[in-house]
Amino acid sequence: MTTARELYEHWAGEPEHDARLGESLDPRGTEWLFELFASLGPKPGEFLLDVGARDGKHFKRLVEAHELRGLALDPVPTGPDVIEGAIESLPVEDASVDWIWARDMLVHVDLERGFSECTRVLKPGGRIVAYVTLATDLLEPRERAWLSEAVALVNLDAEQVEAAASTLELEQKIELGSEWRERMIENGEWDANDALLRIARMRRLGIDSPVDGADLAWGIYQMLGKLCPTVYVWSKTSSA
Ligand SMILES: C[S@@+](CC[C@H](N)C(=O)[O-])C[C@H]1O[C@@H](n2cnc3c(N)ncnc32)[C@H](O)[C@@H]1O
Repeated sequence: MTTARELYEHWAGEPEHDARLGESLDPRGTEWLFELFASLGPKPGEFLLDVGARDGKHFKRLVEAHELRGLALDPVPTGPDVIEGAIESLPVEDASVDWIWARDMLVHVDLERGFSECTRVLKPGGRIVAYVTLATDLLEPRERAWLSEAVALVNLDAEQVEAAASTLELEQKIELGSEWRERMIENGEWDANDALLRIARMRRLGIDSPVDGADLAWGIYQMLGKLCPTVYVWSKTSSA
């Protein structure tokens, strides 16, 4: 433990923080996920299934960029090209899908049923590209509990996700951690100060909105290393 004497002697010397802290570490941003998908070599005419597509924006972009066919599903569809459906019961034939895009949705789902369905519908060699936010050891139990209740999180552990996907071959696992959020701050796309001010004002005004509180804390917890956005690429082997 640092003693108070050591602390104030340290500060008395007006120490600088490590100079590297003032420089960008060139974090990957959200565009990187599209680059990763492109690097996997999708071919025109292949079938893409976007599970949890919400407004279908990412689906449309991927289909157009790579001349794919496909289907976008969400239990709460909000876009014209998205149909109602869930990962646990996919309205698709066996072995008919080349690509499954699961961006920011595995936290909400029944993983066993979801991966079993994905395995059923994938062609041998077909792949899942998934982005999922997972808890780290820095997320304290009470933080995990309120966050999970507030925004319907049923899976936050890498072990749970990886166990459910164990019949698939894990090709890549990339822990992005705070990178997307750093990139958003550096690009001026997300204002962490504003999120913090709103959290403080909610507390001072006594506004009890767990959904809003969790929404505001989501990015902050990534910056603090309590949540770790992680990208997986799995493929279906011929024996799965
Ligand atoms: C955070 S949004 C992500 C939307 C979009 N994929 C994106 O990356 O912007 C999570 C989405 O997952 C959907 N979802 C929730 N449970 C689901 C399930 N069992 N199967 C498929 N999608 C689900 C929600 O309705 C919501 O649209």
